[in-house]
Parts: sequence; structure tokens; C-alpha cells
Amino acid sequence: MSPDPAPFDLERIRAEFPILAARTYLNTCSLGALSRRSEAYLDEFRERWHTMGASAWYEHWLARIEDLRRKVAAFWGAASAETALLPSTSVALSVVAESVPPSRRNRVVCSELDFPTLTYQWAVKPGIELVVLESPDGVRMDPEQYAEAVDDRTLFLATSHVFFTTGYVQDLRALSDIAHRAGAWCLVDGYQGAGQVPLDLSSTGADFYTGGPLKWLLGGPGLAYLYVRDDLVRRLEPRITSWFATEDQFGFDPRAFRYHSDARRFEMGTPSVPTVHTALGGQEIVDEVGIARIAERNRTLTQHLVERCREAGFSLRLAEPAHRSAIVMVRHDDPAGAVAHLAGRGIIVDHRPGHVRVSPHFYNTEEELDRCVQALAAYRG
Ligand SMILES: Cc1ncc(COP(=O)(O)O)c(C=O)c1O
Repeated sequence: MSPDPAPFDLERIRAEFPILAARTYLNTCSLGALSRRSEAYLDEFRERWHTMGASAWYEHWLARIEDLRRKVAAFWGAASAETALLPSTSVALSVVAESVPPSRRNRVVCSELDFPTLTYQWAVKPGIELVVLESPDGVRMDPEQYAEAVDDRTLFLATSHVFFTTGYVQDLRALSDIAHRAGAWCLVDGYQGAGQVPLDLSSTGADFYTGGPLKWLLGGPGLAYLYVRDDLVRRLEPRITSWFATEDQFGFDPRAFRYHSDARRFEMGTPSVPTVHTALGGQEIVDEVGIARIAERNRTLTQHLVERCREAGFSLRLAEPAHRSAIVMVRHDDPAGAVAHLAGRGIIVDHRPGHVRVSPHFYNTEEELDRCVQALAAYRG
């Protein structure tokens, strides 16, 4: 990450993302916008495939994978040796579930606000008692709820950094302390956190954290990132694996599997190389703008959106300011109809049950938010 970011030039930043000239794009929490930078990396990937074929692997692509690993590790406050690349969050979560040593503990504590791929990991495992805690208000979870539920039968406290339908930002330090006090592992699904919320994983105490380029990191679909805390990497021996996880990957010896000494031991085969390229473009832009500035800009945009929605008479499902992120849920009687109405006017948002979901990022403007709220106000369902 650049220690001294260049001045924030919104016009220049917006010019990087062609969709912003064509649409009012307010759906980053589903899919971040594609940049010219990512496109240039993708062009390079395609060109090398055309001109070099498989030698591109050895001369370029393996190095690109390591570039990305280094950038992601620096971005989220970890070492490269603590960072693995995987095909999806679901795969990252299942590798974690299959990496901790067998234990008499069989309880996994999650929340009803988590993205379901997290709870599903344990719902399908025989012998696991899955506890899905209820939110007191449909927006947040209180650390005390986890503290009550996590006990000496608990294997994992597994929950989100930022909830995907409320934008509520959980306190990672509090979560990991609760898990560790009870002797449980702390696993965090950070797909909606990394890229919009400042992160320093080495100081959170979390054992495992998953993220990916799809949304706030502006790198597209096809990859996920897994952080495993340094002191755990060498102790854990995943029971699902691949040739990327072995120490001597290019020795090709079917008799000699040895876990890699770093987080590559959690990897599950060839990563999506096109996505490695698009992810590099997105990550570079995020690093250049700087996560502190992104978070500050997103706070300003979110506050503006909240005020406009309230002025227009909408009620919101919203976290208190100290736990708020750039995911705003607007109550609506016909969310799907509203999203289609807005799409007809070039405004891209999303819906979840009972709500229209609006998620600006640092590249959006206050005018775009005004346009969105005006169009929404014209369609009450
Ligand atoms: C919090 C969260 N976790 C996980 C996912 C998706 O997981 P996967 O990469 O397995 O598709 C999403 C959304 O796509 C999400 O919002």
C-alpha cells in the first residue's frame, strides 16, 4: 500500500471505470466496477496466451499470482506466507473447516445475518451442532450474544466482518477474544469488509479471514483470499488438498506429498488466471486511493444517501453510525419492481427481501445518489 497516496482526484478516478459514464452504478456490494487498469492487465494476459502459450505460465503468470498475493497481504495487514488464493469464499471456508484438528468440540456458532454459504458449510457436516443466533433487531449482533453461546463445546465462532444485508461492521477483536477465551477458533467471512473497511489482520486476533476481489476490491469473479494466522499455518494440515499445496509442486512425485510451509498449503489447484489479472488492477487502484480515504469517502456518501432517503420518506434498515458501512437497505413494498424501474433509467442497484440495496463506493458522487433516490421516490410500488 502506498504510504503517501496521491491527491484524491475524483474525475480521474471515475475515468478509470467506463460503467460510471454509462450508468449510475450503485451496486458495488454485488460486483465492483471494472477498471481500465484491470482491462489492461486482462489484455496482457490474453496477448501472452496468444503469443507464448504455456510458456506464459513460467515466464509471467506464476509471478502475477505472487504479485497479487503480496499486494493482498500488504493490503490486509498480513504476510504473504499467511495468504492463500482460492476459487471462492465457499471453498476457502470449507478448507478451513477441514483444516482444524479433529476435536470432541462439535458446536459452530454463526448468526442469522451471515451470508448462508458460511452456515451451509456446517449444516452438511454430520455430528456438527450448528447454532444460528438471532439478531435482536435484524441489523446487528451484540458481542454478548456470541459470548453466551460460545462455550467449551464450541469448535468455531464463524461470522461476518460486515453483514451483507445490513452493512453492520462487527468488532473483530471482540469476536476473536470471545472465541479464544472459550478455546474455539475464530473464522471471519470478510467478503463485504475487505476493500471498504480498514483492516489490519495481524492485530485483530482472528485465526482465519476470507475476502476476495469480486466486490469492494474491484477485481471481478473467480478468486477468494484466505488469511491464516502465522502461528497456525504450519500446525494445520488440511484434509482436502491439491498439487498447489505441496512443498515441491513441480517435482510431480505422486508418492511425495509434503504440506507447503506457508499458506499455500491451503490452496486448491490452479487459480483463475484471468481473475488474477483483473484483481491486480482493482487492488492497485484501491491501494493508490488508500483504504483510509476510501472509508472516509464512503462514510460521506453513505451519510448523504441516508439523509436523502429520509427526506424522501423512506425508512431504512441501518446500523448505528459507529458500525455503519456503505450498504444501505431501503424498505420497499416491491423491491424487485423498484430495481427494474431504476434499471430502466440507467441506475443499477439490487434487492434483497423487503428492501432495495444501494451500495456506493468511493468512485460515486452525491449527484448519483440524488438521482437514485429521486427515481426510487417516483416508484413506490
Ligand atoms: C458475505 C459474503 N460471503 C460470501 C459470498 C459469496 O461466496 P462465494 O465466493 O462462495 O460465491 C458473498 C456474496 O457473493 C457474500 O456477500
